[in-house]
Amino acid sequence: MTESIKDISKRKKEHIDLCLTDNVSFKSKTSGFEKYEFIHNAITEVDLSKISFKTKLFSYNIDYPFLISCMTGGTSEAELINERLSNVAQNLKIPIGVGSQRQALENEKFHNSYKIIRKNASAVPVFGNIGAAQLVQSKDLNSILKLIDMLEADAFYIHLNPLQELIQKEGEPHFTGLLKKLEKLVNKSNVPIFIKEVGSGISKSAAIKLLEIGVKGIDVAGAGGTSWAGVEILRNKETQNPFWDWGLPTAYCLKEIYPLKKKFKFHLIGSGGINTANDLAVAFALGSDLVASARIILQTLIKNGEEDVTALIKGWFDYLKKVMFLTGSENLNELRKDKIIKKEFLF
Ligand SMILES: Cc1cc2nc3c(=O)[nH]c(=O)nc-3n(C[C@H](O)[C@H](O)[C@H](O)COP(=O)(O)O)c2cc1C
Repeated sequence: MTESIKDISKRKKEHIDLCLTDNVSFKSKTSGFEKYEFIHNAITEVDLSKISFKTKLFSYNIDYPFLISCMTGGTSEAELINERLSNVAQNLKIPIGVGSQRQALENEKFHNSYKIIRKNASAVPVFGNIGAAQLVQSKDLNSILKLIDMLEADAFYIHLNPLQELIQKEGEPHFTGLLKKLEKLVNKSNVPIFIKEVGSGISKSAAIKLLEIGVKGIDVAGAGGTSWAGVEILRNKETQNPFWDWGLPTAYCLKEIYPLKKKFKFHLIGSGGINTANDLAVAFALGSDLVASARIILQTLIKNGEEDVTALIKGWFDYLKKVMFLTGSENLNELRKDKIIKKEFLF
């Protein structure tokens, strides 16, 4: 039975509420960032005051290589959240993604809850978003291409969420023909197509297949942060489910996929459990071009407001500057060159 628009909106609201109130983190698995130590450089020659994170993404100048991860849209509550998140993105000059545009696909009345992001964040890159299930179901891809135009997106994310579709009671775990459809979309789209998971990570072999068909960005969205199996298990009111902690830790995904940069040109995005300044710093040292967070941003916004989200992100980058000073890294490229070690190899 197809889910009605009303039911989808209700489900989206339940997702937001659970992400704010319940513990939907991984239970025993971590993102792996805590397993690394930075290599202290006693002869650093870096001038702390000269470190800058300003860079270019697409045709935009951005101040920090940090992305507010795709989260929401399609409800009145979502519109307000998107309005506030896009204010943060515009002020900080950082990119931002919208949540799944599925409702916009089905009813124009929901367009504003997404469009508000483009309207408010006019000076930064905006990413559109739809799920793999909707891509597979789309006959000629025109409806998907319309979503890109509607948002005036600079790039478009397809989220791969097989685990979530599997556990969700309304889920659609039917992915036959996914890679072929993706390839068609890559060829038809005027903007770069990026791929993300939602918390189970992307393996090296999956990344190779995606890059071979022309995908321009891989956002690993690995395990260790928000468990989307966990969210759906709580919605189902199940007491036990062995898949709560399923997935590849974010640090592992980055370590595996970063070397593919020698062969393919793509943006690598480190996300999934980026909840502290040190998580962010290790994610860059493991090769991320951009780092992204979702749930902690939403929680901070709802509990403390836009200013605190801004302060959180700025604080993380202040810490990163200090790490770069202490490891002798003048810029992020240098930080990516052997500046960390697995703690188990220290002595
Ligand atoms: C409330 C909420 C809604 C989300 N909705 C979407 C979505 O619509 N599309 C998507 O690609 N990812 C969605 N995500 C997943 C995040 O983008 C991210 O990949 C995942 O939560 C892992 O990051 P985190 O550990 O920083 O939360 C959502 C996350 C949250 C917290």
